[in-house]
Amino acid sequence: MKSIIITGGAGFIGSHVVRLFVTKYPEYRVINVDKLTYAGNLANLKDIEGRPNYLFVRADICDYEAMLALMREHAVSGVIHLAAESHVDRSIKDPFTFARTNVLGTLSLLQAAKVYWESLPEGYDGKLFYHISTDEVYGALELTNPEGIESPFTTRASSEHHHAYGTEFFRECTKYNPHSPYSASKASSDHFVRAFHDTYGMPTVVTNCSNNYGPYQFPEKLIPLFINNIRHRKPLPVYGKGENVRDWLYVEDHARAIDLIFHKGKTADTYNIGGFNEWKNIDLIRVVINTVDRLLGRREDEDMDLITYVTDRVGHDKRYAIDSTKLQKELGWEPSLQFEEGIEKTVRWYLDNQEWMDNITSGDYEKYYEEMYEKR
Ligand SMILES: NC(=O)c1ccc[n+]([C@@H]2O[C@H](COP(=O)([O-])OP(=O)(O)OC[C@H]3O[C@@H](n4cnc5c(N)ncnc54)[C@H](O)[C@@H]3O)[C@@H](O)[C@H]2O)c1
Repeated sequence: MKSIIITGGAGFIGSHVVRLFVTKYPEYRVINVDKLTYAGNLANLKDIEGRPNYLFVRADICDYEAMLALMREHAVSGVIHLAAESHVDRSIKDPFTFARTNVLGTLSLLQAAKVYWESLPEGYDGKLFYHISTDEVYGALELTNPEGIESPFTTRASSEHHHAYGTEFFRECTKYNPHSPYSASKASSDHFVRAFHDTYGMPTVVTNCSNNYGPYQFPEKLIPLFINNIRHRKPLPVYGKGENVRDWLYVEDHARAIDLIFHKGKTADTYNIGGFNEWKNIDLIRVVINTVDRLLGRREDEDMDLITYVTDRVGHDKRYAIDSTKLQKELGWEPSLQFEEGIEKTVRWYLDNQEWMDNITSGDYEKYYEEMYEKR
């Protein structure tokens, strides 16, 4: 059995990646390494927790000795690294935690993989360290077409919503220019991963993805937060005038891309992953309101007045837009869902899983994790 570690598997994207690998590859032992911070939630993986090829280990990626011991114990040949502090607002309040987990945690995992793999007779053969990163490392793009124009990209997913709010896009060769403590910490970890390839010859790959949305996202992030607030008719705090533009990708499409790149990507390479799907925050919020209201049988536009403009986030990047043509051309990936389909699925999921949401927002979920952990 081939053993791989997926870090951060109890988080939003990680849980989708773990589920995909556990169900698609019964020949892999999938070891989910997660510290279970406030963002980690074992309830995200309830449907697969009993599978024979799945193992959960509660551990901190910053604990170098624990990472090394785990790699040795299970003869780990691949690492898919998602564990991170991931919320920009938190990074503005507490940058040290971000440097610790995202930078030092990644370094400790890299060093453990290096020491273990270099101790084997075959060395780095058949090994891969895959680091998941964000488009935010590239900085911000100018918003030069405030009304949006037809996007230069064509995919099934973008055929209905075709807006590009500027002429520039993040490409794999775009220079790093992070602005928030979160993106600075992710940029630093990306550099360490590449340095381990260049210095020690470790087989690595890095991907930079745009904003994800879908089930199991911690409700401090825009889409689940707003779905929950609309449901309970609470205000929807919109930064500035809501004009910031983001590219959105359905989380399962990201997990599919990770699977493809883990198995077929070129080592020492970088791939951008995006939805070809730019939305101004305020337009996206209107789509979410309409979808929630429709699914709850409320009158059209009934909850538009919940929108409440608040002081903009400091240093709020204007526009992110990913060009993922390389991944499309080289590995044949493209998003499978149009945004309207993805949003409908997402809203339906949160409305149908109110208990999941209530457990998190009430704080009870922490106790649940402790119990789960004690049992193992
Ligand atoms: N969410 C997005 O839109 C997005 C977009 C592009 C890239 N990313 C990247 O994808 C990865 C996952 O993002 P997410 O949104 O799923 O994050 P998340 O916050 O939902 O989950 C992070 C997970 O990491 C775990 N974790 C945190 N610190 C840890 C530590 N020290 N040791 C072990 N586990 C730890 C948490 O318990 C949690 O389960 C991150 O690296 C993030 O930078 C996210």
